[in-house]
Amino acid sequence: MDRYIIRGGNPLAGEVTIGGAKNAALGILAAAIMTDEPVRIENMPKVTDTEILLKAAEGIGTKVTHEDRHTVIMDSSHLQSTFIDDEYMKKIRASYYLVGALLGRDKKAEVPLPGGCNIGVRGIDQHIKGFKALGAKVDILHGCICAEAKDLRGAHIFFDKVSVGATINVMLAASLASGRTIIENAAKEPHVVDIANFLNSMGANIRGAGTDVIRIRGVEKLHGTDYAIIPDQIEAGTYMAAAAACHGDVTIKNVIPKHLECITAKLAEIGCQITEFDDAVQVTSYDPLTSTQIRTLPYPGFPTDMQPQMTVALGLAQGISIVTEGIFDNRFKYVDELVRMGASIKVENNMALITGVSKYTGTDITAPDLRAGAALVIAGLAAEGETTVDDTSYVERGYEDFDGKLRELGADIEKVSDGWSAERARLKLVN
Ligand code: EPZ
Repeated sequence: MDRYIIRGGNPLAGEVTIGGAKNAALGILAAAIMTDEPVRIENMPKVTDTEILLKAAEGIGTKVTHEDRHTVIMDSSHLQSTFIDDEYMKKIRASYYLVGALLGRDKKAEVPLPGGCNIGVRGIDQHIKGFKALGAKVDILHGCICAEAKDLRGAHIFFDKVSVGATINVMLAASLASGRTIIENAAKEPHVVDIANFLNSMGANIRGAGTDVIRIRGVEKLHGTDYAIIPDQIEAGTYMAAAAACHGDVTIKNVIPKHLECITAKLAEIGCQITEFDDAVQVTSYDPLTSTQIRTLPYPGFPTDMQPQMTVALGLAQGISIVTEGIFDNRFKYVDELVRMGASIKVENNMALITGVSKYTGTDITAPDLRAGAALVIAGLAAEGETTVDDTSYVERGYEDFDGKLRELGADIEKVSDGWSAERARLKLVN
């Protein structure tokens, strides 16, 4: 098992370049199998989640060529199956995008039920509601979502709650349904827009992505395309929060500042200086941080995927902060670990009451999920002494070269894989 060993206290300084958006990439990889023509995708983040989805596509017959580290070409002209038989698929939430993609393409899909981060109940009723509205029969059998339709027909769908996954899944299937689909109460996240843009570049006819009403006119077939994925809003936000917590001066490059506005606003509110450039933001945090209140909400609200990282920064802010989780029902599991590092946080239901402390102190902690893992690494960077974060696999699902990028900013962090290398790293770090 790999772990991070961090010797905290270094201020972060310098530049970090953000990769392609993981959550856009996952929808785009599924969409790419909907055509028989080759699809070339640039700015593909090299993280475990995208690698798993690429393996699943290969498993059903997609030919995947890696042109370079961040560019893949997918050729699904010889797709042999609509059954995803891959143990890995249970590990990632986005496996369910293959239901929408295969249902659109072949009117049939059998995909293992999604896994992913354990951050609370994660229903799929809205996905199923959407597929059924398009005319599919959907059953859960032997741990798989089995969907089938004679014909997919456009429909008027009102989602009962805003769901990123259900919005994307219905967009995928409806792109190749006959007639017009209207999705009401749609998710507006930047990656929903990016996936709609990608589908449109393949010949789909989707309008309104980024608003809460999306209109799709089904087309008969989709064609190949050449596309670059947008930068990752959450990866960028994570380095911004790290700069805030570690009294850094960090310029985060290759971002769309508009997508970061809610994060920028909160960081400014707690005392960071933010300078926006065309495709970069600089976060400077020299003064003591001050408290605030945050409630996570669907975009353009404050993203739930930034909740743990901001909580770590607020744990070091003067005064009392309140963070309310508005999306998932169990996304404060990491707080116990943070308290072991000296944080003063009480969680009640979906609310964390944070009394700022002057410092964290290093200890051995465990990452319970992807964003919490990144947040605990930030806590380790800000802490006095040494922190070990077990294990790195969650973080690697969504952050490419997290430790390498942090080292470039001056952090003392190393990824090690067993007891002996851990000991060596410890000795080196201490010296
Ligand atoms: C996506 O998850 C992201 N994952 C998550 O990112 C992100 O936290 C989340 O959206 C919210 O922004 C991917 O894009 C792969 P939802 P998703 O459907 O689609 C409930 C990360 O760290 N719901 O918008 O699963 C659900 O339980 C990850 O990168 C239903 O009740 O989120 C939740 O409370 C973690 N029924 C809320 O809606 C449904 O059918 C929002 O879920 C669907 C969802």
